[in-house]
Amino acid sequence: MIKVLIVNGPNLNLLGTREPEVYGVVTLSDIEELVRERAGMRNAEVSFFQSNHEGAIVDALHDAAGSCDAVVLNPGALTHYSYSLRDAVASIGIPVVEVHLSNVAAREEFRATSIVAPVCAGQISGFGAESYLLGLEAALSVLGRRP
Ligand code: DQA
Repeated sequence: MIKVLIVNGPNLNLLGTREPEVYGVVTLSDIEELVRERAGMRNAEVSFFQSNHEGAIVDALHDAAGSCDAVVLNPGALTHYSYSLRDAVASIGIPVVEVHLSNVAAREEFRATSIVAPVCAGQISGFGAESYLLGLEAALSVLGRRP
């Protein structure tokens, strides 16, 4: 069975109460439930990791290389400045799909740049919790296209 790790970066543990006008009121555990349900429909296995610490996320990506087929990653603000995260994504040899709840291209200028996007399989941004479901579908699609 295909295994996909869903990784969330800084402050995403606060979803539900964090800037609801931007991110809505859905919580991270609501999102996990939705993703788990979709994964069940696709015969895939999902696991979840969230950290507010850059190094812990780098470690989780390294671990995923040996235990998962793909990663769906919302790096939070690390998206915009973390070279170590970018290098980790580039190093692990499995596809990583970058996702965002908000449309990062339509917000402050600094959010329009993603340091990790060039080494990801692709980016999905702006669809709220649905971004994670689209991210899962994209990861499965990329894996399906692999020889
Ligand atoms: C975010 C967008 C980032 O710019 C921000 O720092 C976040 C959340 C999103 O999902 O829309 O923490 O990744």
